[in-house]
Amino acid sequence: MRVLVTGGAGYIGSHTLLELMAQGHAVCVLDNYANATPEVLNRVRALSNGTVADYTGDVRDAALLDQVMTTFRPDAVVHFAGLKAVGESAKKPLAYYDVNVCGTVALLQAMDRAGCRRIIFSSSATVYGEPVYMPYDEDHPTNPTSVYGQTKLAAERILTDWAGANPDAAAVILRYFNPVGAHHSARIGEDPQDIPGNLMPFIAQVAVGKRDALTIYGDDYDTPDGTGLRDYIHVVDLARAHVAALNHAACNTGARAFNIGTGQSHSVRDMVAAFSRACGGDIPVRQAGRRTGDIAAMQADASRAKRELGWTATHSLDDMTASTWAWQSANPDGYGTPD
Ligand code: NAD
Ligand code: UFG
Repeated sequence: MRVLVTGGAGYIGSHTLLELMAQGHAVCVLDNYANATPEVLNRVRALSNGTVADYTGDVRDAALLDQVMTTFRPDAVVHFAGLKAVGESAKKPLAYYDVNVCGTVALLQAMDRAGCRRIIFSSSATVYGEPVYMPYDEDHPTNPTSVYGQTKLAAERILTDWAGANPDAAAVILRYFNPVGAHHSARIGEDPQDIPGNLMPFIAQVAVGKRDALTIYGDDYDTPDGTGLRDYIHVVDLARAHVAALNHAACNTGARAFNIGTGQSHSVRDMVAAFSRACGGDIPVRQAGRRTGDIAAMQADASRAKRELGWTATHSLDDMTASTWAWQSANPDGYGTPD
């Protein structure tokens, strides 16, 4: 298929480009580089030895979208472009609604004008909110606790209504759990522009000497070691879920949500220990109170994705930490490090 990838220069998008090309799909990226650098695409091209068409611009730009649709003529869109910082979303709610919700509407309108009928959407496990039961399955009530989560849920509803109104349309909603890790080449990976808010990139920066210690938020949760439990998923497994979702969208219509996780969970202390194994050194930690808005545990029931997409995660926790360390140690300044 010909696949337009919005936000394709980002962390998950760049890994997905490689998996799409490996399966013979033609790709085109639309990214405004709000949270990425064009160097990413140079590395994707070098790794794949393939063609990556690209447009620089905003997913809310209708004229640009029409130009991309007319020139590239996508059979499907994978929609990553968006803002993702939970804390920032409370301070800049309108920016988050504008990019994440209005951006999705603008994209669907452009797809309608071009007659493109398949979309894969990056949603998040955060749409579930405080657990009513665990693991979460896709029928768990949705009650996001952040503005970011609300924007993802709003976009999901818009996609569902769009698919409902167009009998030939397919919208596959992927609810990611906690993506971590990097490509085995160590040439693409996660490169936070600011102080990392997420656990794994923060640990990686401590390990490489850019930060002095990891702050562990909370040790009094109702979990085996008192720290938060999450379902960490290797970014390459996540990227492959998009290929499976495209295959699904090629032969199904309607909207369908899928959890994309491993079905296992690990504590903050498990992650620190696993990273120490990977890098062969200690990760200094300091203990602090709980982070506002955090919940004790999140774990996927990923059985629907296995059953209906034929997708399942294959990478282990050690694969996740080893690939993160390989990327971080080879690129201490992320994409600012010469390739
Ligand atoms: P990322 O920030 O690395 O990638 C997003 C990309 O979108 C970036 O390249 C950025 O420059 C681009 N972008 C942002 N605003 C844009 C706009 N208005 N127009 C065009 N491009 C724009 O983030 P990621 O971790 O790769 O996440 C990709 C998607 O997955 C996001 O929608 C995010 O909300 C979602 N998601 C991420 C996680 C996670 O933990 N990383 C978890 C669940 C869901
Ligand atoms: N944590 C620390 N110290 C840190 C960072 C995190 O102890 O410096 C802890 C958190 O308290 C939590 C765990 O590590 O227990 C994971 O935290 P992350 O910030 O890495 O991930 P979250 O589960 O909070 O959120 C992530 C994404 C969200 C997404 C959610 C579910 O940031 O966008 O996963 O997909 F919605």
